[in-house]
Amino acid sequence: MSAAPLPLSGRHVVLGLSGGIACYKSAELVRELTKAGASVQVVMTDAATQFITPVTMQALSNRPVALSQWDAREPNNMAHINLSREADAILVAPASADFIAKIAQGRADELLSLLCVARPIERCPLLLAPAMNREMWAHPATQRNVAQAQADGATILGPAAGDQACGEIGDGRMLEAAELCDELIAFFQPKLLAGRKLLITAGPTFEAIDPVRGITNLSSGKMGFAIARAAQEAGAEVTLVAGPVHLPTPRHVQRIDVKSAQQMHDAVLPRAAAHDVFVATAAVADWRPATLAEQKIKKDGTKRVPSFELTENPDILAAVARLPDRPYCVGFAAESHDIARHAREKLARKNVPLIVANHGPATFGSDLNTLLLVDADGERELATADKLSLARELVREIARRLQTS
Ligand code: CTP
Repeated sequence: MSAAPLPLSGRHVVLGLSGGIACYKSAELVRELTKAGASVQVVMTDAATQFITPVTMQALSNRPVALSQWDAREPNNMAHINLSREADAILVAPASADFIAKIAQGRADELLSLLCVARPIERCPLLLAPAMNREMWAHPATQRNVAQAQADGATILGPAAGDQACGEIGDGRMLEAAELCDELIAFFQPKLLAGRKLLITAGPTFEAIDPVRGITNLSSGKMGFAIARAAQEAGAEVTLVAGPVHLPTPRHVQRIDVKSAQQMHDAVLPRAAAHDVFVATAAVADWRPATLAEQKIKKDGTKRVPSFELTENPDILAAVARLPDRPYCVGFAAESHDIARHAREKLARKNVPLIVANHGPATFGSDLNTLLLVDADGERELATADKLSLARELVREIARRLQTS
């Protein structure tokens, strides 16, 4: 297996810090960005140096921090030009209320705002991660400045809601370092699914026998969650119907939690026609107990074991594929043998244009997978890789088919 390239490798990020207590998160952010493969040039305002030292930021970024437009070490004495010409993106985190006001007005009286104004606007995106007290965030002047900065091409990341350093609770917290790094990774993904709506099922289902027991399977949901993230990064609006799994919801994805196959069916069917694509990654239990015992089934001392009658669950994918205004349907096939043959058989039986086959026992719970795409034109293997990389490749394949279908 060849290691997938890091998601920010080859990207050079100028990370700007304006003054705010959230500067402490920016130290971690440098680590996240460099771990993701980016090179990071830190630029700090005077106010930012009150909260965290340039020494810390230099040590973490492995580069001297740029602090002043009057730094005579630059041979041409034009730090603002040099820094903004090298950058693939400028991320200001934290972006204080004052700094956003400066951006909205196009002011340039210190290095960070100067290089934001001096950047080649078509080529070098500006992302702002606001961080401030909730009253400052809600102030009409701040909201006006944020809207103006956006209208001038800046992307606003967050803010989040929650506990604030001042002891108040509300909107204005800076996103966490890992969230900001994910936002930047998403920002750089090609928007192949812009304007599309995707509905995705993921995880196992749980078919109750009694109040404490049930039938389920070893699906972890990782592949479906990775597809939800990759589709969202590609610009789609994503709804994820998840069976019982313990995975964090990908950012900006709407999640609906269900337990049983019937609940998954009931969540999917009324929504399906309003979506452009349906991706069925869930390992739906084929059968459920015909009757649910109201109380826990107890041993009765006779050594007699209980027996259950099973009844078949609805086939969600086949039901969506039968809708008159059906979305583009992508089925998964988790097989233990004869993968290609079974996938082709499911393509016909479920009447869907694309089946993605994988080796069930090898992939359930694993971070890695190997996919075989089977459609009317033939087969294509996506070689073993981590599930997010595969999900991004699958998103490309789906986007290509949507364009030609
Ligand atoms: N699927 C579904 N509803 C079901 C069963 C399966 O939506 N009740 C979907 C799965 O999400 C997957 C595809 O159908 O996209 C194939 O699922 P799989 O379990 O591999 O196939 P089955 O139809 O259950 O057939 P078999 O058990 O014979 O392999």
